Amino acid sequence: MADGILVIDEGTTSTRAIVFDRDFNQVSLSQQEVPLAYPADGWVEQDGETIWEKTVEVCRAALSEAGGIDRVAGIGITNQRETTLVWDRKTGKPLAPAIIWQDRRTASACDALKAAGHEMAVQAETGLLIDPYFSGTKIAWILDAVEGARDRAEAGELAFGTVETFLIWHLTAGRVHATDVSNASRTLLYRLGLGDQGGWSEVMCNLFRVPMSMLPEVKPNAADFGICDEGLFGNALPILSAAGDQQSALVGQGCLSPGMAKITYGTGAFLVANSGTEKPDSKHRLLGTVGYETAEGGAMALEGSIFNAGTVVKWLRDDLGLISDAAESEAMAGALPGNGGVYIVPAFTGLGAPHWNADARGTISGITRATTAAHLVRAGLEAVAYQTRDLLDAFEADGVEIRELRVDGGMVANDWLMQFLADICARPVVRPDYREMTALGAAALAAMQLGWVDAAGWQARDVQGTRFEPQMDDKQRTALLKGWSAALRRTLA
Ligand code: G3P
Repeated sequence: MADGILVIDEGTTSTRAIVFDRDFNQVSLSQQEVPLAYPADGWVEQDGETIWEKTVEVCRAALSEAGGIDRVAGIGITNQRETTLVWDRKTGKPLAPAIIWQDRRTASACDALKAAGHEMAVQAETGLLIDPYFSGTKIAWILDAVEGARDRAEAGELAFGTVETFLIWHLTAGRVHATDVSNASRTLLYRLGLGDQGGWSEVMCNLFRVPMSMLPEVKPNAADFGICDEGLFGNALPILSAAGDQQSALVGQGCLSPGMAKITYGTGAFLVANSGTEKPDSKHRLLGTVGYETAEGGAMALEGSIFNAGTVVKWLRDDLGLISDAAESEAMAGALPGNGGVYIVPAFTGLGAPHWNADARGTISGITRATTAAHLVRAGLEAVAYQTRDLLDAFEADGVEIRELRVDGGMVANDWLMQFLADICARPVVRPDYREMTALGAAALAAMQLGWVDAAGWQARDVQGTRFEPQMDDKQRTALLKGWSAALRRTLA
């Protein structure tokens, strides 16, 4: 019986496929790493064809483990956002490696646009700030760097897409060139709004020098995204949902009412708060974005983006060799009585919200002869909590009070970090037992498209989890935050 949904969760470091049954229980999961390349300082790339090939492989593996394609009624997609691909409409082949969201190569182009005074108009139109993080300047970079690309784009021969669009194109054998509102709202080219209020902005496309003929059709998150090519998995499955991973996790966590918020600790960490139907207007360098949209309605969202969270643990493990697996960091950090005054500011690819400094690079400070590997590991974990606190303060300054933190993503398995997070943020941290909120959100959206569940039913479902209450006294918290602020100042100096 087709009572399941196949979710493709294409993240920054890995691509995964998960089959959920009709009650949203995970039936199978298959995952493969997709290598990242760092060809120059601040450059981060991935091979588009590898993303596609590995995605097909994990889908086949997850379907087979779940009992075959007849088990599923359709596909939901969720993805790393902003990552930019430009491909040939005839062959489907990318013109250049995918430019990953963390890539800073367009920092000088962004500086020039800011110096020319465009930032306020861009924020008013798109909800975003001018930063290399978003797709707009990445598209123009590819068109300028690849010989003949701009002319070919003007002639309608090239297509742009973020990862979901690239996957939809290939899943449908080039028949569908479509994105969804949440991903579109991260390009710098989209007039922020729900329903008819939103749309590709001619003014922004001109400013960022992107021909509108390259852009995909924009659909709600739960919609008809076409039928998957039969030859791929042996059946013509419909694609029922698409959503950027952070917005998908917002849905997965059931944050469908204004004021509800979640933070997902993946490669980066992204705090997203449902802000209702009003267009958010941040005065503290947060982003306005589309939360989600279905046939029933939708919500806007306010977002704070941290560029490096899980990457810190990966760096401690793969590059410094201080831990052999991520789980080891928990015991190492917890065994120390304190941080010994050591701080790491992991600005590997600049700093995101609320600083938006593309040129900042990381620092380690406060080391003495007594500093051990454990101090560095602990400082790496602590940095994730301090950065979250900085975001919460910016949300509060924007008038959005987040009373408890709903968390998900790989890092939240670390109990020590969750307790430290609650202590530093002075708020309860709520961790669901089932952690794949990003994939679950895409499954929920697909189920909404199938009519299996509605928004109210989704929000009312019972979620089991663990609650971490703040225990640290104010004096200690203040001292730690003072140390972090000093480390940040040194990084930004
Ligand atoms: O905006 C970038 C974000 O979508 C990447 O998510 O899960 O790969 O850190 P993640």
